[in-house]
Amino acid sequence: MSSHASSAVDPVLQIEDLAVEFITEHGWLTVVDGVSFEVGRGETVGLIGESGCGKSVTAMAVLGLIEQRSGRVSRGCIRLDGRDLLALDSREMREIRGRKVAMVFQEPMTSIDPAFTVGNQMVEVLRRHLPMSRSQARQRSVELLDRVGITDPHRRIDSFPHELSGGMRQRVLIAMALSCEPDLLIADEPTTALDVTVQAQVLDLLAGLQAEMGMAVLLVTHDLGVVSETCERVIVMYAGEIVETASTDELFARPLHPYTAAMLASLPGLHPDEPLDPIPGIVPPRHALPPGCWFEPRCEHAIELCGSGHPTLVAVGGRSARCLRADDLRLPGVGS
Ligand SMILES: Nc1ncnc2c1ncn2[C@@H]1O[C@H](COP(=O)(O)OP(=O)(O)OP(=O)(O)O)[C@@H](O)[C@H]1O
Ligand SMILES: [Mg+2]
Repeated sequence: MSSHASSAVDPVLQIEDLAVEFITEHGWLTVVDGVSFEVGRGETVGLIGESGCGKSVTAMAVLGLIEQRSGRVSRGCIRLDGRDLLALDSREMREIRGRKVAMVFQEPMTSIDPAFTVGNQMVEVLRRHLPMSRSQARQRSVELLDRVGITDPHRRIDSFPHELSGGMRQRVLIAMALSCEPDLLIADEPTTALDVTVQAQVLDLLAGLQAEMGMAVLLVTHDLGVVSETCERVIVMYAGEIVETASTDELFARPLHPYTAAMLASLPGLHPDEPLDPIPGIVPPRHALPPGCWFEPRCEHAIELCGSGHPTLVAVGGRSARCLRADDLRLPGVGS
């Protein structure tokens, strides 16, 4: 796929210097700051980081959903298939959303309308974007439900969302998201609400559909196990910034940022006999960022210099890291 960690040969999505802010009790606060990355055609890229690091906000920005949440994109550029998404009006963005870029979120009940049957909602999505009659769209919906592993789709299509299990609702959501064969699927914690067995089934399903349809996937998660199984490249966010990008193999074998290394060390399952080792401390709030590196107060490798200047994201042999010590630290990865 791509030889560079943050750029892709044939990019579907290009994000450049993205900044997003929200109005809060502290005034306008920037919660995503200077984020740049690309996702290549057919590629799966993982976006990881602790809670509140800006993963979902980044995803929302691509989908054009920031303004609805009393926020604004204050800087940067987002291109999908070369088209500048930030220049589109809300009608144009609605056409792109669902057609070119689709989404699957964590909690299906918030994305599926409980008042309408599965079939009604699927038919509506298809007909909004594609020239289809009602009966063609219904036929296509049955095929899609079958494809995502819903048994007896002819009957299930007339179910209401509450009549389905959580795993089935998530499958329906995937079927809806993929119905117009988007170039990019944004999956934000798509399996977090499901139990472990169903999680694995849904992830397998996504991987299979992706291979079949050749779409790119931006997978937002804090689950590094999921990342290692599904993603080709990884983007690590901390407090609204990218702190490391690398291929999944490189990232797991040799993390360059102490934050990434600390997350790897807290990965369950690696040391089954030892208790989980979460990263001490918390992500600093945006209104009280430390003067130097934002991870410095929690970093066991910090030196005096780390407390003064804020480090930039530096390219290191096809990957990148935002750490003064990226070159001289030898951080343990997984299996090392
Ligand atoms: N509508 C909003 N108004 C104000 N602040 C917001 C809003 N939405 C998000 N934020 C803030 O933006 C920051 C990033 O939030 P975001 O939802 O992107 O985190 P995340 O990385 O997706 O975390 P999680 O893993 O918990 O989903 C957080 O500090 C959050 O409080
Ligand atoms: Mg989130």
